[in-house]
Amino acid sequence: MAAAGSAVGLGNIWKFPYIAGENGGGAFLVVYLVCVLLFGLPLIMTEFLIGKRSGKSAYGAFHALNGNNRWQWLSWVCMTTAFLIMGFYFVVTGWCFNYLVEACMNVFKGMDMQALTSHFKEITTNTPRMIVFGVLPVVLTACVLWFDVNKGIERLSKILMPLLLVMMFLMAGRVLMLDNSNIGMQFFFRFDFSQITPRVVLEAMGQCFFSLSIGMGALITYGAYMPKTQNVTRTSIEVIILDTLVALLAGVIIFPAVFAFGFNPAEGPQLVFVVLPAILEQMSFTWLSSVLFFGLLCIAALTSTISLMEVAVAFLCDASAAHNHPLDRRKSVLITSALVIALVLVCEFWQPLFDSFDNITACILLPLGAMGMALFVGWRLPNNGQKGVLHGEKTHIKRWARKTFIFVLRFIVPAAIIIIFLNSLGVI
Ligand code: PHE
Repeated sequence: MAAAGSAVGLGNIWKFPYIAGENGGGAFLVVYLVCVLLFGLPLIMTEFLIGKRSGKSAYGAFHALNGNNRWQWLSWVCMTTAFLIMGFYFVVTGWCFNYLVEACMNVFKGMDMQALTSHFKEITTNTPRMIVFGVLPVVLTACVLWFDVNKGIERLSKILMPLLLVMMFLMAGRVLMLDNSNIGMQFFFRFDFSQITPRVVLEAMGQCFFSLSIGMGALITYGAYMPKTQNVTRTSIEVIILDTLVALLAGVIIFPAVFAFGFNPAEGPQLVFVVLPAILEQMSFTWLSSVLFFGLLCIAALTSTISLMEVAVAFLCDASAAHNHPLDRRKSVLITSALVIALVLVCEFWQPLFDSFDNITACILLPLGAMGMALFVGWRLPNNGQKGVLHGEKTHIKRWARKTFIFVLRFIVPAAIIIIFLNSLGVI
């Protein structure tokens, strides 16, 4: 559940619709699903196994499993990626909190699409708001890590996540009853091969890594906390199914509404923040629905930010201990939060940085980190015997599946990532 909490977040509900909208809808969806099938299972399993075998976070895991520092660069990639993602992710989480507060105050009542668009602009350019709502989610996340109440949050999300799903099903039902909603469904589900460009493929791969939290060690940490008897394959499949379901639902909610309200699907990062309040205004029990939805969205975002910040905090603890200046956990939380707040504020006030962090992490750093981990497990770790990465997983993984898994990590995943990179650069 914790891993699913990390995976399901703004990546599904905010980023997926806007990236799909910018990249041709149906064409993007198909490539995205292919990426999930191709990369999702092997790479989630890889991270879980690295964590489970080593019992360590991203910093200690590579050293522990390799016996030397040669793969340590990967943990630096993870840590850098975590910071850059936090830089823009907290900004968007802040927007969600802002919308939650406004939903409570019934601010969206009677606003049309134009009013909602200018409202979004106002929110993202009003300095005091930007500071308050940029810092608030960082502080909340830091509190969770400081007081070590992860467990409580997980238990809470066991109830809240299904509730979010129910809420989204209801919204999808309402949206599909709008006039012209079929145009949006066609946009999202009609596959037009000619729309697949190298850029679409790169964006779809990046979105797949981002949405599943692959490639920056977040899932290594959760692997480290797994009981030895936990079935890694099953857990990975469950995370993938849940994450993909939420992304698909988000698409089914947003696109029909976009067309029904006469809006543009390629509107960029603001897309869902303009369309969602308009949809909620159409629901029965408007006030309750809006508060509930934005409340659940904030929780979904927080369970992701917790996993992001945890990578940085654990890195700082372990790295400082390795260099003989051990920092305790709470000091690491403080230092990390201070750095993140600085980064978030820069992203708030300088849009190009927000955009490039969003782009660089998904399209470059996460695939690089994931490729490194695939190569590490595929080539560096013995795949048989006591030290083998799948040792202890025997009961769950059959021989042919084990062989396929290693083969995919050794050849298929790295080759696919390199081809997509080169293709998007125009080299092939
Ligand atoms: N997967 C999260 C989401 O979809 C974002 C995330 C990425 C969290 C990487 C942790 C690590 O919102």
